[in-house]
Amino acid sequence: MAQRDVAAALLAHYRCHARLLPWRSPPGEPPPDPYRVWLSEIMLQQTTVAAVIPYYERFLARWPDVAALAAAEDGDLMAAWAGLGYYARARNLLACARHVAALPGGRFPDDEAGLRALPGVGAYTAAAIAAIAFGRRAVVVDGNVERVVSRLFAVETPLPAAKAELRMLADRITPEADAGDFAQAMMDLGATICTPRKPACLACPLAEMCAARAAGDPERFPVKAPK
Ligand code: ADE
Repeated sequence: MAQRDVAAALLAHYRCHARLLPWRSPPGEPPPDPYRVWLSEIMLQQTTVAAVIPYYERFLARWPDVAALAAAEDGDLMAAWAGLGYYARARNLLACARHVAALPGGRFPDDEAGLRALPGVGAYTAAAIAAIAFGRRAVVVDGNVERVVSRLFAVETPLPAAKAELRMLADRITPEADAGDFAQAMMDLGATICTPRKPACLACPLAEMCAARAAGDPERFPVKAPK
């Protein structure tokens, strides 16, 4: 399998089947504003897409940009966050907004290293924002992406030991262009087709290239270490 075939097949599928989510631009269009990408990625860290959507829309209506959020009262922000859980995220959200608003120009850094230095922004989130908002080639790996990659290459190393190998394989299939669409296409594939149980291989744009499917048992991957 040529590595670029994976990206080409996935991107072609994404152009027709991308989930239309309020923080996304349609595939192929200019990227959404970094504030929106950052806000959505923080909300999505431990929360499902369906639960995040109404919160995201309320936040954006009330605080339309990073300067507005930076000026929010702590109590108002915590009240608006109530129900999303993991409240450290809300405290970091405000710390990050104030940090960014105080930077020269008041804008988000536009590369992974700069983003990684922001409060509440870890390696995954920095890569996601760099790819989605700034079109940078970044390797965006979360649990969904680990599952997709472990199946595509039938990785026999169990998790968590396989993490470095899975990242290397994800790097290998990440294209130079269309980084944001590719990252979100991988997320969509993991969320809707390459699911933990009963993956929908018949609907999968990568089925013909998938080593786990060829081996007959995609659900066996990612392999878990015996307890
Ligand atoms: N989960 C985390 N980030 C996401 C995104 N941009 N789209 C869909 N699901 C996600």
